[in-house]
Amino acid sequence: MKELITLGEFVIQQQHKHSDATGDLSQIFGAIRLASKLVHREINKAGIADITGAIGQENIQGEQQQKLDVYANEKFKAALAARGLVCGIASEEEESYVSFDQDINHGSKYVVLIDPIDGSSNIDVNVAVGTIFSIYRRKSPHDGPVQLEDFLQPGTAQVAAGYVIFGTSTMLVYTTGEGVNGFTFDPSIGVFYLSHANMQIPKTGRIYSVNEGNYVHFHDGVKRYIKHCQEFDPATNRPYTSRYIGSLVADFHRNLLKGGIYFYPSYANHPMGKLRLLYECNPMAWLAEQAGGRASDGSGTRILDIKPMELHQRTPFYVGSSSMMDDVEGFIAKEKARLQQMAELV
Ligand code: AHG
Ligand code: MN
Ligand code: MN
Repeated sequence: MKELITLGEFVIQQQHKHSDATGDLSQIFGAIRLASKLVHREINKAGIADITGAIGQENIQGEQQQKLDVYANEKFKAALAARGLVCGIASEEEESYVSFDQDINHGSKYVVLIDPIDGSSNIDVNVAVGTIFSIYRRKSPHDGPVQLEDFLQPGTAQVAAGYVIFGTSTMLVYTTGEGVNGFTFDPSIGVFYLSHANMQIPKTGRIYSVNEGNYVHFHDGVKRYIKHCQEFDPATNRPYTSRYIGSLVADFHRNLLKGGIYFYPSYANHPMGKLRLLYECNPMAWLAEQAGGRASDGSGTRILDIKPMELHQRTPFYVGSSSMMDDVEGFIAKEKARLQQMAELV
């Protein structure tokens, strides 16, 4: 018989494995779970309620904010502030970090970083979107207000990270550094159940996910890798399969289950790529590693080792099955070496 375990119970079971655990993380997950349910409800009435469309205002990244971006941001903030365990959050939708200064938050040990709605341009067309979160221990003294340095920590310092995918079903997938587990939401009773225990990304895969509309602008190494995918899959003697949803969460989730690679390279219009190190890349990179995959900037730097300099910092991002990561990095390194050789000859 399949065991029935809820997300709440699972988090507490995990906590009991650590004698020094205080239960704080379990309560933070309670907040994330609650806000996720609210967002699930809103998304599922998107067609009939006044929740689709832009609000006519840009966020700090210069992107049009959608009504759901704002809704989700407010709900996650409110749920996290009310628990008294988090002293502040940084969000893709806020210019600066938000300090929680109520009495209840004094002495809180954690900060949360969040992309409240990832893939928000997909909301109006009924395509999967997500929420990405990561949790860090604060570094500044616990008796004062939260500081910028609390948010500018490398991904290796994450205490927990995960995402919620609002797809054909809603799922929450997370890690605390002991593997990756996935929970599917049953909306009829409002509960997340453990449905995908100890998720492992296949070592290799057949799917590559990249916005190929930008192909002509990519560096030659990236172009050569894409050509390689189009021409030949040694395992099947067929081309690889191209799948690009335009919601990192959804593209990542599919690749995690089936094997594949997602990348958003740097190119002229986006010299540092498009994706944000703190809100998108670090949590996904840690999940990938915990599931047996890898994540890098494509040029040999592990995403989790990057020391962030600012909140909304971007990075080129490559994530997925380890053998596909080896391949793409190989193509990029080879092209770099070729260019270097040519430069030396001049
Ligand atoms: P967000 O909606 O949080 O701004 O993120 C969108 C991101 C990511 O989810 C997606 O993979 C990528 O941007 C799509 O960008 P392009 O449309 O440039 O391909
Ligand atoms: Mn995003
Ligand atoms: Mn977003």
